[in-house]
Amino acid sequence: MALTPPMGWNTWNKFACNVNEQMIRDMADAMVSSGMKDAGYLYINIDDCWHGERDSLGFIHPDPARFPHGMKALADYVHSKGLKLGIYSDAGYKTCAGRPGSRGHEYQDALQYAKWGIDYLKYDWCNTEGLRQVGAYMTMRDALYAAGRPMVFSICEWGSSYPWQWGKGVGNLWRTTSDISANFAENIDHGTWMQLSVLSIIDQQDSLRKYAGPGHWNDPDMLEVGNGMTNNEDRAHFSMWCMLAAPLIAGNDLTTMSQETKDILTNKEVIAVDQDSLGIEGFRYSSIDSVEIWFKPLEKDNWAMCFLNRSVAPRDISFDFQKENIVDDISGKKVENADYVVRNLWMHKNIGTTKKELKAVVSGYDILMLELVKRDR
Ligand code: GLA
Repeated sequence: MALTPPMGWNTWNKFACNVNEQMIRDMADAMVSSGMKDAGYLYINIDDCWHGERDSLGFIHPDPARFPHGMKALADYVHSKGLKLGIYSDAGYKTCAGRPGSRGHEYQDALQYAKWGIDYLKYDWCNTEGLRQVGAYMTMRDALYAAGRPMVFSICEWGSSYPWQWGKGVGNLWRTTSDISANFAENIDHGTWMQLSVLSIIDQQDSLRKYAGPGHWNDPDMLEVGNGMTNNEDRAHFSMWCMLAAPLIAGNDLTTMSQETKDILTNKEVIAVDQDSLGIEGFRYSSIDSVEIWFKPLEKDNWAMCFLNRSVAPRDISFDFQKENIVDDISGKKVENADYVVRNLWMHKNIGTTKKELKAVVSGYDILMLELVKRDR
């Protein structure tokens, strides 16, 4: 499962606890009508706060006021659109928002989700006193297997026990950090925890790339595109998530998004970098004067390349491919001199070849994203 990073939408970043069945239906409709489904988005994921009570036998039920027709009917609706439905639980007694957690009910929760037709489970880590991550996540993995319905298993323990070291074979993706915020450069201090900016999440990914690959991905958290950052910032955020082969789980209101937001989320050339079949994350090649240069090896000996401007001011950039030695130390792949057409993936046009020095201006908090397309295949 998840041979390329999962793509979909999740309730949390925009709506937090305010979830209900009508909203999920509306988002499924919008995912189709906006062109997102066509661009590869598949999962509609309900995060925290869908839960009602457990019955006398311990089976969980959705909140009857928010989900009056129940989860099975909702899954049927989402499936009828050609999409898949995801749900959320927690390894502890209670979820992060205080709803019933799965602790002690793992097998019957997995069975219940399978009966409803759930396709994806995000499994959180609040209220887990006395538990250890690897054991708790293995228990739920085995419960999902036993339930017999394929479900993508999303580990969400915020990087606390280095899940990249044990997550392969346990889950399909694991969060690497604390929660994201719709802020490009400033963290938000909540006292007991930090909500991270896009840049500080990027800074925590570079050494993790060797742990990711088809079926097991680093998860730098869900997207904040369309949730209040500028278009430059959204574009840089989205491009970098694709360079990192991150799961692309949108977190904005799909029913009201602007054309600019839609254009970012549905840029198929950029998404193709994320979904590349090699499944190798990009790496930071250099960092000079607030501009980071990143490379990601792609199938057919192509490369994606980014100039990420971390400063608020524009930066002139130049890059002479003939003078650089770009090697991916995981795959051993090398950018060969003079061999590629250079394509701008946001402008959708070829801008030259690697024979010539590249010169450009990158605006503040923005990105230049290129593909180096190998010639003479
Ligand atoms: C944690 C997770 C978030 C979200 C909330 C829900 O903070 O990291 O992504 O699921 O819980 O309460």
